[in-house]
Amino acid sequence: MCGIFGYVGTPAPVGAMVLGALRRLEYRGYDSWGVAVRDHDTVALAKRAGRIGEAAVTLPDSAIGFGHTRWATHGGVTDANAHPHLDESGRLAVIHNGIIENFRELREELEERGHEFRSNTDTEVVVHLVEEALAAGRSLIDATRDTFMRLHGLNAIIVMDVSQNELVATKTISPLILGLGDGANYVASDTTALVEYTRDVVYLEDNQVAVLRPDEVLLLDLHTGAPLPLRRERVDWETGDMSLGGFPDFMSKEMAEQGRVVRQIASGYGDYTRALATLIADSFGTFLVGCGTASYAALTGSYLFSRIARRHVNAVLGSEFKYQEHFLTDRSLALALSQSGETADIIEAMLTSRARGAQIGALVNVRGSTLDRMADFSVPLGAGPEQCVLSTKAYIAKLAILTLTAHTLAGTPEIGRDILGRAADALDRFLSEGGSARVRAVAERIGAADHLYVIGRGLNYPTALEAALKIKEVSYVHAEGFAAGELKHGVIALLSEGTPCLVFAPMDETRDDILSGAMEMKSRGGLMIGVSPQHDPVFDIYIPVADVGDASPIVNALPAQLLGYHLAKLRGYDPDKPRNLAKSVTVK
Ligand code: AGP
Repeated sequence: MCGIFGYVGTPAPVGAMVLGALRRLEYRGYDSWGVAVRDHDTVALAKRAGRIGEAAVTLPDSAIGFGHTRWATHGGVTDANAHPHLDESGRLAVIHNGIIENFRELREELEERGHEFRSNTDTEVVVHLVEEALAAGRSLIDATRDTFMRLHGLNAIIVMDVSQNELVATKTISPLILGLGDGANYVASDTTALVEYTRDVVYLEDNQVAVLRPDEVLLLDLHTGAPLPLRRERVDWETGDMSLGGFPDFMSKEMAEQGRVVRQIASGYGDYTRALATLIADSFGTFLVGCGTASYAALTGSYLFSRIARRHVNAVLGSEFKYQEHFLTDRSLALALSQSGETADIIEAMLTSRARGAQIGALVNVRGSTLDRMADFSVPLGAGPEQCVLSTKAYIAKLAILTLTAHTLAGTPEIGRDILGRAADALDRFLSEGGSARVRAVAERIGAADHLYVIGRGLNYPTALEAALKIKEVSYVHAEGFAAGELKHGVIALLSEGTPCLVFAPMDETRDDILSGAMEMKSRGGLMIGVSPQHDPVFDIYIPVADVGDASPIVNALPAQLLGYHLAKLRGYDPDKPRNLAKSVTVK
C-alpha cells in the first residue's frame, strides 16, 4: 500500500532524487513521507506527516538513499510514525510496505531486552531485530534474512546500514522491482518510479533477497542464502502520459479518456476476446474475482454472460474468495479483474486457485504487475496509467472487454463492437455537450445532503453499487447502492423528505420495474435523479444518456463519476487522493 524507492550508486543529490520518485508513487499512500541517505557513519533523515506537496529536502549528497510514502495501518499519522525508522545508534534504517501480523510479540520481546521504540508502527521491530543480529556477528544480508523469516504477513522491507555500501531488500507478495543501471542500481514498488532511470528490471519473487551495490545486484535464496540467477526483463511498454495534460486533476483527465479506451477495445481486442471466450467456454466453472470497483465490474460480467451468452459465470469478492475455494477444480477458470495487479486479496485468491489446479486469467491494467506475471492468460486493459485513486477508465475498460467477450461467446462479436462503438461516442459526446456542467448543477442542488441512495436493476444493479462507491470514496457523502427490488424489504425506511436518489433507467426489460421503484421512493420524499435515455415524470432531475443497449453500464457510470467529482470539488476535497485511501491495496 505504501510507495518505496531506493538508490545505490555514485554519490549524487540522492535526497532530491528519492523525493521525486516518491512523488510518482504517492498514489500508493499519502499519509506521510520520508527520505534517508547515508552521511558518512550516520543516517541523515527527513520525514514528516502529510503529503509531499511542494516539500524539498536538504540532505547531503550520498551514494545510498531510500524513501517511503505511507498508507498508515499501524500507528497514527505522525512524524514519528513516518518511515524510515532508525535503530538506537542511528546507523541502521528500514523502510517497509505491508503488515507485520506478529509485531506485538516481537516488540514485547525487544522491549524486554531494553530496546527503545520511537514509534507506534509495526515496522520499527524490523530495525531493532536487524540491529540485534548484527550485534550477534551476522552480516547485514544474513541479519536481514534472519529478521524477515521471523515476520508474519505480506511484507516488503529494505535495510540500510551506513557501514555497508549496499541496500538489502526482500519481500512476500508485496511488490518490489529492481532497476539495473550503469554504475547505479534502484529498487521500487512499481515501474513508474524506475523508467526514468532504467528499463532493465528484475521482478523480485517471494523468498528472494536482493543485495544492491553500485556495480552489481545479487539475488539470494531467503532460506538458504544460496545465490540465484538474475532474471532480467525489459519494460518495453510506454508507461504512457503521466502528466495532467492540462486537466485540473487526474480524475477529470481519466474520465475524459474513457471514450478512447472503449473505442480501442471495440476496434482492437478481437484476438484477446476470442481467446478469453474460448477459455470460458472450455472451463467447467468460471469465477470473475475482483475487489472494490473491480468487484462491481465482475458482477456486471456475470449479468452480461448470462443475458448475452446464456452462460453462468460466477462473480466472487476477492477478499471472500478463500472462504469459498472448495468449488475450484483443475477445470475451473479464475479470472481476476484488477487495475493495479497488486491487490493482496486478489493475489492471494489467485494463489489459492493455482493451488487447486485452476487456470488463472487476468484483466489487468499495470503491465509487469504481480497478477500480470502470474496469470496463464493476461489481457491488458490498455487504459494507460491511472493515477487518481478512484478507478474510472480501468473500470470502463473491464466492462468493455467483458461485453465484447460475452458477445464473442454468443457468436455476435459484431453486435458487441457496434454497441461499444456507440458507447464510446456517447461518452465523448456527454462531455463535449456540457454533461459535466449539467451534473455539477445537480451536485450544487443536493450538495448539503449527507446521504444519497442509488438504485438499479439487472445489468445496472452493479452500476448502482459502483456509483455509490464513487460518490462515497471521493465526496465522503454516505451513498448506498441497492437492487431496486430490495427497497420495500427494508432500506426504504432510510428515506425522508428531500433524500437524493439516483436511478438508472435504461431502455431494457428493467425499465418499468425500476420506474415503479422510483415512484415508491418519491412517495417517501425521495428527490429522484433519473439517469436514462428517456425522461419520465417521476424524475425531479433528469440526466439524459445515450441508449446503447447492453453497454448501458458504461454510459451510466460517467454521470455517477461526475456527481462524486463535483460533490468533492464543491466540498473542497482533492478528488485524486481521497482521505484514508490508496491506489493499490497491497495489504489484506
Ligand atoms: C476504486 O475506485 C478503488 N480505488 C478501489 O475500490 C479499487 O477498485 C480496489 O482497491 C481494487 O483495486 P485493483 O483494481 O487495483 O485491484
